[in-house]
Amino acid sequence: MKKQMEIYRKTFAVLCCAIAISACTNEKNLFIAENINFATGQTKHMLQTTGDPTGKNYPRTMNGNNRLATTGKYDWTPGFFPGSLWYLYELTGDTLWRHEAEKWTHSLEQLKTFTEHHDLGFMMYCSYGNALRLAPKPEYTTILIQCAESLSSRYNEKTKTIKSWNYRKAWNDTTEWFYPVIVDNMMNLEMLLAASKLSGNTKYRNIAIQHANTTLKNHIREDYSTYHVVNFDTITGEALNKATCQGFSDNSTWSRGQAWMIYGYTMMYRETNDPVYLDTAVRLADFYLKHLPGDLIPLWDFNVGQPGYVPEKNSYATQFQEKLRDASAAAIVCSALFELQAYAPDRSYRDYAVKMLRSLASPDYRAPLGENANFILMHSVGSIAHKTEIDKPLVYADYYFLEALSRYKNTK
Ligand code: GLY
Repeated sequence: MKKQMEIYRKTFAVLCCAIAISACTNEKNLFIAENINFATGQTKHMLQTTGDPTGKNYPRTMNGNNRLATTGKYDWTPGFFPGSLWYLYELTGDTLWRHEAEKWTHSLEQLKTFTEHHDLGFMMYCSYGNALRLAPKPEYTTILIQCAESLSSRYNEKTKTIKSWNYRKAWNDTTEWFYPVIVDNMMNLEMLLAASKLSGNTKYRNIAIQHANTTLKNHIREDYSTYHVVNFDTITGEALNKATCQGFSDNSTWSRGQAWMIYGYTMMYRETNDPVYLDTAVRLADFYLKHLPGDLIPLWDFNVGQPGYVPEKNSYATQFQEKLRDASAAAIVCSALFELQAYAPDRSYRDYAVKMLRSLASPDYRAPLGENANFILMHSVGSIAHKTEIDKPLVYADYYFLEALSRYKNTK
């Protein structure tokens, strides 16, 4: 009798567990399905507004009249909308999205020889990289290798970095940046690593590794916060100045910059297995997580308005010190943590990623259907320093939100 009771007790416990797991799975599936349903509805409205790609109508943000604002293909963001269409195809399996994704991706082909700034990885890997992953065609390989060649033309053996921007002045209007390298550049390396695998040419991979190593040495502070911009001397190869372009002040931490770094080093670990990159990604992520408010959506800069942090005179941050959030940084980190949790399973990154995704998908950050110029997320910040895109939707916030949703779907 006692033995039988024990068997009943154990069976009951197993059944309770199975019911709890199934309720969780069901809850997860419902959350994902509801968000896919919303994102497809919103993006269909977006496509009605844009019409077919013209080379000049890549969705970017919302203007002062709450209407869609677009960019031409040479800006840094045209790859995100095609990339979002690819994620909708992946999330739904509906060929409607593949056709749209192909159309918008193919409209960027001409960029394969573009060398005017470092953003070719964003432009071509979010579009053609996803195309190659989800609906491969031989020409995609050729195009991506050509892109890697174009991006590599900005690499300098002395600085061991890819130059992000051409010459410009710092916000103090005195310091000249002849060789500025920004943390965002970590995101362009994935395309180089892919191109080496596709072509067998290790040159692109070596450049990516050198660039990641130099960034590790120069852009990261002791506490694993980050500088946005480092300007290099091309004669000595040394860092000349460390500053910000889009953050609050030169010594502050711009949250989207930190996000690019977390994502970038997580990706570098995936592609190289080098434990230094994993350690770096973990420490960058831990700094970021330690500075988040309760809803896990960061301030646009972690140090805005704090004593000891003073914007340079020409930056609009001198006038605008509101503690706004940046949903785009949150979406980037959310997606990165879904990957990082697989490499550092002991650090509760999965829980953080799920909570971030749910926070972004809540009515505080996800737009009502048909509003927000048909972007998915509200409350991002493009660049307060430049007085642009302040508390607006941004196409890249949506892209990384969909990527995070897709990674969540594929995570146990
Ligand atoms: N890569 C430019 C930005 O994050 O605003």
